[in-house]
Amino acid sequence: MAPKFPDEVNVFLVPHSRMKDLVGTYMDQLSTADFRSNGALEHLLPLLENTFTEFKSHEHIENQYIMERLKQRLKLVNVTCQSVCNCHGDSQLVEILDLLRDGYTCTSKSLTERINFGSQLQKVVSDFTKQFIPHMEEEEEIFQPLLMKYFAYEELLLLKQQVIQQHEFW
Ligand code: FEO
Repeated sequence: MAPKFPDEVNVFLVPHSRMKDLVGTYMDQLSTADFRSNGALEHLLPLLENTFTEFKSHEHIENQYIMERLKQRLKLVNVTCQSVCNCHGDSQLVEILDLLRDGYTCTSKSLTERINFGSQLQKVVSDFTKQFIPHMEEEEEIFQPLLMKYFAYEELLLLKQQVIQQHEFW
């Protein structure tokens, strides 16, 4: 469980709440999808494409507004933290977005191809999600304390505001 920080300076709180809601929505629908039926892929593909585009945007905002600033600050005080530098280094989001776009060609294909694609999609997205939840917890448990330690309270208030503004779901 992530340590509790004052909400007003917890830069991950609001975006991660949104990301976890999105995960809950697609996992419910993906796990019960029947790819033999017409419309299952047609319904899921845009939902997942929008969601993973939002994940990609979230990652970009974190890199630009949080990780880069944290990295600079740690450098200034001569502290090394490898995980800050490589926080999103093994992200699979681009590959998953490519797979989703490929999926649109499947909607006109045979039943077997649709079912095979659906199974592949369930596995790839489920594997991603098993990493994504701990990834967010790591950010909350490792990076938020570093932010609290090396940034002033007022800086974090502003940073949180900027991070939220950059996310387009508000
Ligand atoms: Fe907050 Fe890197 O996901």
